[in-house]
Amino acid sequence: MTSTVAIAMLACFVSIVTAPTIAYSKQDISLPFKDRAAVKLGQTIYKDNCASCHGVNLEGQIGWQTEIVDGRRLAPPHDETGHTWHHPDELLYNMTKYGFEEMLGKKYPNNMPVYEDILSDGELLAVLGYIKSTWPEKIKAIHNEINQRYASKKIHKDSMLETDN
Ligand code: HEC
Repeated sequence: MTSTVAIAMLACFVSIVTAPTIAYSKQDISLPFKDRAAVKLGQTIYKDNCASCHGVNLEGQIGWQTEIVDGRRLAPPHDETGHTWHHPDELLYNMTKYGFEEMLGKKYPNNMPVYEDILSDGELLAVLGYIKSTWPEKIKAIHNEINQRYASKKIHKDSMLETDN
């Protein structure tokens, strides 16, 4: 396996959930994608904090699937063409709040900022809720199922470490 492939794999869901340390949040994380006030707030937060990389229309950076710049991946889309919707609410929240290195438990140079000291929990949920609110109904439904599956696996937290998703 080349190191580029290895790095690429680090960013995917399997690698994240199989990482030895995961920044589990203590609260129940549920994106408020049906809450109109939260979604509106999230849209503003998105424009101010995320659109510069992930795109005004959530389209991501050109070449995000293949290009590596200075050893770092480009920002993926947050619309249905990306893989944001492959991850359950809690992982999206933790990735955005604590960053990839904390999630992976190791060095992983990347361009995604850590928002722990920038956005409040309410703001983090609002912006992720806004992102989900833009997805087609079919994708929202699949994402709801991913959340359910994740929640049931969490009964035994360690079983998450063996998921083959
Ligand atoms: C400076 C550019 C930049 C900004 C600003 C930025 N991101 Fe990112 N984001 C990235 C990059 C690059 C990645 C991919 C990192 C990797 O895989 O190495 C990423 C990945 C993500 C992921 C994981 C997506 C997936 O499918 O795995 C989420 C979720 C995310 N960003 C949310 C946000 C949110 C929410 C904001 C605004 C609050 C934001 N990002 C702002 C660059 C940015």
